[in-house]
Amino acid sequence: MPTWSDRAFDLAVSVAHRAGRLLDRNLLGRRTIEHKSGFGNLVTEMDRASEELIVRAIRRTFPDHAIVAEESGRHEGAGGRWFVDPLDGTMNYAHGLPMYAVSIAFEREGRMEGGVVYHPALDELWWARRGRGAWRNRRRVRVSRTARLSEAFLCTGFPYAMAPKVENLRYWDAFIRRASAVRRVGSASLDLCYTAGGIYDGFWEFHLGPWDIAAGLLLCEEAGAKVSNYTGRPVDLFRGEVVAANPRLHQAMLAVLRRARLY
Ligand code: IPD
Ligand code: CA
Ligand code: CA
Repeated sequence: MPTWSDRAFDLAVSVAHRAGRLLDRNLLGRRTIEHKSGFGNLVTEMDRASEELIVRAIRRTFPDHAIVAEESGRHEGAGGRWFVDPLDGTMNYAHGLPMYAVSIAFEREGRMEGGVVYHPALDELWWARRGRGAWRNRRRVRVSRTARLSEAFLCTGFPYAMAPKVENLRYWDAFIRRASAVRRVGSASLDLCYTAGGIYDGFWEFHLGPWDIAAGLLLCEEAGAKVSNYTGRPVDLFRGEVVAANPRLHQAMLAVLRRARLY
């Protein structure tokens, strides 16, 4: 008998693929771009179309569940809660750059049970289920073993809002002087998957939404990453401040963030 979590996971996988294919088919089409609150914060008709498809599918199978979705906000419910980013990497997508993903996660009784991040351009499904590891398609993934910051390949993102964007320049400056390399790709869900998969050694970012990180954080945890906020405490999904790194590097990253804050 499939459990609640099996059914939720199957739904997340199938709807992430459907939404991803819809986005992929339209990647090079004409875009209607709107600017949401704040400089540079975009939304396209494809964010909305993807979200409608996902929310409708969840509602149909689990009508009593709550949904926290980026574009349509909160849908009340009980029994389970879903986090939906229908298009993570809108800026990339709006310019035809295929570094974007669909991110879906579900929790029960406050515990994240499963998460999927589908990257249409590579037809890659990154997924995790609590206690069952983190996976890239059919391959199990683990975090890297890099122990020195000077050898680390790191990643971050810059929030759309100006004040936190400028604040992150301080951290960027500090890490780029100490790490082997730092990337800014523009899709937090994929950044977390690549950290889980040992491609990046670590990731930091703040001002994120719960939909950006819910699935990717479960992947990181299941892949053996250490995950916290900037002061080493557990991540609050609704505050969106994250440091995820292999356990050998996590403390060193916290130390860099702490020192950069004191400048
Ligand atoms: C954004 C991306 C980006 C991050 C931003 C997010 P969106 O999500 O994840 O990497 O730096 O803070 O808002 O708006 O493209 O779904
Ligand atoms: Ca996002
Ligand atoms: Ca989005």
